[in-house]
Order: sequence, then structure tokens, then C-alpha cells
Amino acid sequence: MIRARVTGTGAYLPERRLTNQELERTVETSDRWIVERTGIRERRIAAPEEATSDLAAAAGRQALEAAGVPASSVDLIIVATATPDMLFPSTACLVQERLGAKQAFAFDLSAACTGFLYALAVADQYIRAGTYRTVLVIGAEVLSRMVDWTDRTTCILFGDGAGAAVLQADRGRHGILSTHLHSDGALWDLIHIPGGGSRRPPSAETLADRMNFVKMKGSETFRVAVRALEEVAREALAANNLSTDQLALIVPHQANLRILQAVAERLAVPAEKVMINVDRYGNTSAASIPIALDEAVRGGRVKTDDLLLLEAFGAGLTWGAAVVRW
Ligand code: UT7
Repeated sequence: MIRARVTGTGAYLPERRLTNQELERTVETSDRWIVERTGIRERRIAAPEEATSDLAAAAGRQALEAAGVPASSVDLIIVATATPDMLFPSTACLVQERLGAKQAFAFDLSAACTGFLYALAVADQYIRAGTYRTVLVIGAEVLSRMVDWTDRTTCILFGDGAGAAVLQADRGRHGILSTHLHSDGALWDLIHIPGGGSRRPPSAETLADRMNFVKMKGSETFRVAVRALEEVAREALAANNLSTDQLALIVPHQANLRILQAVAERLAVPAEKVMINVDRYGNTSAASIPIALDEAVRGGRVKTDDLLLLEAFGAGLTWGAAVVRW
């Protein structure tokens, strides 16, 4: 049986750190409120000349190096992002050019914070079907340009970054065991950017009304997220006849420390089995799982044969999980 195995990971975080103390000076908030309600202490902000494709290419390059795969043998590049460089062409095409992956075809995938898992599932299907052998999956965001820096309910949450994974066809027990994806478009308005698309194209009015920025109903989103993440984790474990104690590590989307803790508690998973870096990067949307995965791998927290559960929740609404044998 052919499986998609992760043979390399990479990440890129912009240098600039924005601390809670700095935010205290620009909006009515406090380090204490942010840490207690979200677990976030600082986030990274892209330099003015950096766009999503720059972050994505850097993470992708590092993942290819880790895998020992030349860019010329990549068949497909998928970039999961909600903050593309431009509406078109896709950010993935810009990354393809940057990496010199001339044989690849490339496209973007839009599933907000669940984007990396959606992209992983698509790559997995192509590899299992025997259609392609090497896929570069990237999650990359420059959310700092879509955030309303006068809105304290959202601007404290998000950060910029990119993470990547190389998936390669492998015969054996290792790789992605299953993926589980869900959407509920009825709840589209919990997190959205109302302006800048075809419904409300950019105009002086959309700018004046701050419609080109993220709007979120935070506490409602929180409640739905905890329930959906617990359910999809149970679904993924049941599909593989696994119990939570067989998992070596959960690598969740990093939206809020309290969400991660609530889900771990409901699943009866001890805190040390949950990868957490939301304190340093905030919510980097589609980039958060591959950044956390790369940190876990480079930090020696993942060993061959380990069972991992990846899970995410985001705008759409979208949510999902993947079980991986490393
Ligand atoms: O990644 C995609 C999915 N996104 C998420 O999963 C995000 C889910 N939601 C959350 O993480 C949390 O709901 C937030 C962190 C956004 C908010 O935390 P909360 O505990 O749900 O707070 P809240 O929205 O219920 O607000 C409580 C109070 C309000 O004041 P009043 O109405 O009680 O007087 C807010 O105005 O806290 C106030 N508040 C703040 N105070 C200081 C909201 N933001 C801030 C702030 N600093 N930055």
C-alpha cells in the first residue's frame, strides 16, 4: 500500500516580535488579559517588504533541504493561505518560481486556519492514488495586513509565519493514516473579512468602514471550536482503532491556549502530549500546524513510529484532523 510520508519539515518566522507590552500602548488591553484569555505573549510581524510568498518559499526551501529532495523533483506545490500576495495568480505559483520547481504544478487552497490539514488531505489523496510521488505542502500567512490594529478583540490574536512539509510516496506502515475534514458554511459569519472580494470590492467606502479587516465573534467561535475539535479527534482515533493514550503527540492549530487545554482535558490527554507555541507566535492560521510540527521534529519530540494527531478549526467554518505514523 502506498502512503504519503512526511520526509521533511520547515518553518519561517519573521524577525520582528510584537509583544503584549507594545500592544498595551496602542489599544486598551493588558499583558495580563491577553495571557490569561489566550496564552499569547508575543507574535511575529512580517517586514514591510515581505509578503506571504516570501515566507512560504523560505519554509518550503527548508522542508526540501530537510527531506533531501531537490526542487526539480517536486510534482505539486499546495499553499494553504487566507492572505495571498494577490487575488491571482496563486501564491503557490509564485513559490514555484522562487524555488525553481519547474516540473511542479501549483495551486492555493482556501480553508483559513484548517487550510494546512485540507492541503495535507489533498496531497495524501494524490499520493495514495499513485498519481504523484512528491508534494510540497505549505501553510503561510501575513495576517498582520488583514487585522484591524484598532480592534483589541482581534489584533492581539494573530501573527505572521509559514510552515511546510514534504510528502513522499512510501510503501509501508509510515505516513498519513487518515484525514477527516468538515465544513459548516451556515456559520460563515463567525470569522470573515467582509470587503475586498467580489461582494464588496475595495472602495473608499469599504476602507472607511474597515471592511477589509478580520471580523470575529470570539466567544461563539470558542465554544464551537472546542466541541468540533473534540469530536473530530474522536472520529480520527476511532477510524484507526486508537485510544488517546497511544498518541505520542497532538499537534493542534494554535488559536488560543484555553482551547488547547479544554480539548486536551475532554480527551483526557496530559498537557505534555500537546505541542504548544501559541505563546510565541499567536494564531498564524494555516501556518500554525506546520510551524508547530517543525518545532516538534527539530526539538526531538517526534520519533519514528510515533503516532501523531493533527487538528485544526477555523473560518468557513472548517475543521479537521489527521493521524500520522511518523
Ligand atoms: O483560529 C480560528 C478560530 N479562532 C478562534 O478559535 C478564536 C476563538 N476565540 C477566542 O480565542 C476568545 O473568544 C477570545 C480570545 C477572542 C476572547 O476571549 P473571551 O474570553 O471569549 O472574551 P470575550 O470576547 O467574551 O470578552 C470578555 C471581555 C469583554 O468585555 P465585557 O463585554 O465583558 O466588558 C471584551 O470587551 O473582555 C473584553 N476584551 C478585552 N479586554 C482587554 C476583549 N478583548 C480584549 C483585550 N483586552 N484585548
